[in-house]
Amino acid sequence: MDMNHSATNLTLDALKSVVSQALLGKFTAVFPKLFKCQWKTYEGQKKLYANFSKDTVSNMSGRKFCVGGNWKMNGDQKSIAEICKVLSDAQLDPNTDVVIGCPAIYLMFARNLLPCSIGVAGQNAYKVAKGAFTGEISPAMLKDVGADWVILGHSERRAIFKESDELIAEKAEHALAEGLKVIACIGETLEEREAGKTNEVVARQMCAYAKKIRDWTNVVVAYEPVWAIGTGKTATPDQAQEVHAFLRQWLTENISKEVSNTLRIQYGGSVTAANAKELAKKPDIDGFLVGGASLKPEFVDIVNARK
Ligand code: PGA
Repeated sequence: MDMNHSATNLTLDALKSVVSQALLGKFTAVFPKLFKCQWKTYEGQKKLYANFSKDTVSNMSGRKFCVGGNWKMNGDQKSIAEICKVLSDAQLDPNTDVVIGCPAIYLMFARNLLPCSIGVAGQNAYKVAKGAFTGEISPAMLKDVGADWVILGHSERRAIFKESDELIAEKAEHALAEGLKVIACIGETLEEREAGKTNEVVARQMCAYAKKIRDWTNVVVAYEPVWAIGTGKTATPDQAQEVHAFLRQWLTENISKEVSNTLRIQYGGSVTAANAKELAKKPDIDGFLVGGASLKPEFVDIVNARK
């Protein structure tokens, strides 16, 4: 009986050992895979967190980065075709809206050469749909040739063509009603900045827009200090951020917290590939309006400033 018992124990022990060896073997065979998989996941998570924390520095706002090129009165069919080719071939950050402000006469030409992912903007539009306004272009016409945006209130329109805050706001109101998206420009002159009037000036310009704009969904504001436009004298990231933060506070107090949180505010004025990355890190800078550099291949790097 005892002998039988110990024989059974022996068999059981042997069985246990075989099973555990087998399990262990199986486990060690499975384990490296498991380990590798977890390591991979961990590496992936590390990358994800690295990107996430990078994003939280520059992009925690949730506002989509938006870069506009303002070609102004430059280009001909040949050079426009060349720029469009550069933009079509480039790897542009899919997390950035790109809009090209093209001379009106070349809008359809550029629209046909650019990928659909790139928006096209007029650089001006009048405040009514049609009529006896020699030399003017309406939002309906811009739309008819493929534009989906219009730049309004640029400092060159204000200074050279004497457009008032009120006229610009009326243009914005009509363009929005016609279904165009609007890049609404504002900005102080050097004289105004030196007199300490920057906030006062941009608040006045914003007030005029606010009297006419009810829904800000299709508006992007472009803060462009006049002294920085075409001068090679960019506002420092801190100078730009200071005004952008003021504008957000102004929006909170005068429009709503929601508009303040969601409205995109671009910076414009001598933006280049060399300074775009630093400017793009500022929490209230949601993109750029680019003049001179938008005619060059470096515009691609400006679009990708947050990549
Ligand atoms: P800039 O122009 O980049 O050549 O200074 C900016 C603008 O006018 O929008």
